[in-house]
Amino acid sequence: MKILLFVLLFIFTTQIAFSQWNDVNYDESKVPQFVVPNPLKTFDGRKVRNVKKWEKKRRPELLEFFSENVYGKVPGELKISSVEVVEESNDAINGKANRKQIELSFEKNDLNLDFTILIYLPKNVEKAPLFMGYNFYGNHTVTEDVNVIISDSWARNNESFGIINNQLTEQSRGVRDNRWAIEKIIDAGYGLATIYYGEIDPDKDDFTDGIHPLLYNDNQEEPANNEWGSIAAWSWGLSRCMDYFETDNDIDESKVIVFGHSRLGKTSLWAGATDQRFAAVISNDSGCGGAALSKRRFGETVWRINKNFPHWFCANFKEYSKNEQALPVDQHELIALIAPRPVYVASAEDDKWADPRGEFLSAFYATPVYKLYEKEGISTDKMPEVNQPVQNTVAYHIRTGKHDVTDFDWEQYIKWADAQLKNN
Ligand code: GCU
Repeated sequence: MKILLFVLLFIFTTQIAFSQWNDVNYDESKVPQFVVPNPLKTFDGRKVRNVKKWEKKRRPELLEFFSENVYGKVPGELKISSVEVVEESNDAINGKANRKQIELSFEKNDLNLDFTILIYLPKNVEKAPLFMGYNFYGNHTVTEDVNVIISDSWARNNESFGIINNQLTEQSRGVRDNRWAIEKIIDAGYGLATIYYGEIDPDKDDFTDGIHPLLYNDNQEEPANNEWGSIAAWSWGLSRCMDYFETDNDIDESKVIVFGHSRLGKTSLWAGATDQRFAAVISNDSGCGGAALSKRRFGETVWRINKNFPHWFCANFKEYSKNEQALPVDQHELIALIAPRPVYVASAEDDKWADPRGEFLSAFYATPVYKLYEKEGISTDKMPEVNQPVQNTVAYHIRTGKHDVTDFDWEQYIKWADAQLKNN
C-alpha cells in the first residue's frame, strides 16, 4: 500500500513538474513571479543615472551579454566585394516608383555568397527615407511585379506557394503582397527595400550553408557556442545592406527604418541593437527571443524555441531552456539597446503564441532608458485597447486579428515614421 502511494505521489509530482515546463501557458494567472532586471543597474549593482554611464558601461555590457549568450557574435569582418545593378527601371508601381535590383557579393575562404536587394523608390523624392526588411519566400512574393527576379536559393517547401524541391517558382509571384503595402509606402514618400532571408542563411539547422562557412577558421564546421546563429546572420545581412545604402545617392541612409515580422522581427531588433546606423526599428509580432519577455514563459518559451529552431540563437542560449529565471537580462533590455532611436513594438490580439502582453511590457520596461535621453516611451503598464496605438519614440499597438502583417500595421508605421523621422 505504502509503495503504491509513493508511486502515485511520484507520478503526480513529476507530471506537475513536467506540465509546468511542457504545456504552453496561455493563462495570465499562471505567469511565474519574477523580478524584471533593471536596465539602469549594472551587473555589479551600480545605478546608472545618466546617458554617459549608460553609453560607457551599461549599454556595452548588455550588448556583450546578448551577443555572447543569446544571438551569438559575428566572428569576423566581411566586406562587400562587389555590387552589381542587375536590373533597374523607372516605371514601377503604376509609374510612381523607380525599381532597382542590386546584387551584393561576398568572398572568403574560397567561398562566395551573394544576395539581391529589391528596392522601390518614390519618383518625387530626391533622397528617399527607406523601410527595409526581409521577406520569407523570395522578393518576387512581395509584389505582382513581373520583373522581380526569382531567387534560386533554398526555400522551405510550401505546396500552396508552388515551392517544391526547395526551389522558388513563378507560381509564388505576389503571394505575399498582402503583407507589403508597397504602394502606400511609395505614396507616403518612402522607399522599400527587401531581401529574401534564405539568401543570407537558409532557415534550417545546418551551418554548412549560407554565410556562416565564409567566416569559419580552419577545420571549423559550426559556430562556436558564443558565435552567431541564424538570427545574428540575418542581422548581419541587414547591416551589409546599410553599407550599400551609404553609397547609393538615391537613398537617405540616415533615415533607414529596419522592419521585420516574427522571426524576422527578432532579427530587426537585433540589427537595430547592433548597428546604430539604423534610424528606427519595427518589430511586428516578434514574440519569444524578440520583444516578448522570456521570464513570463507565456506562449512560446526559451526551451521550446531552442528545441524547434536550434539554429536561430547561439548554442549558449540553450543554458536558459527551462531556466529563464537564471537570465540576468530580459528582452526589454534588447529594446533599450536601441535607445534613443525610435522603436515600434506591435502585436496581434490572436497571436497568443507571441505573448502580446510580454511584448508590450518590454516596451514599457525599456522606457527608463529612453527617459535618460528625454525621449517619451510607454508610460503605463496598462495595455492600450486593441487598434489604439500609442506612438511615442517607443511605440506600441495591438491590433485585432492573427499573426500577420496588415495594411493597418503599415498605416501605423508610416504615420509614426513621419512624426519621428521624416518631419524632423
Ligand atoms: C514560429 C516560431 C516563432 C516565430 C514564428 C515565425 O511560430 O515559434 O518564434 O516568430 O515561427 O517566424 O513565423
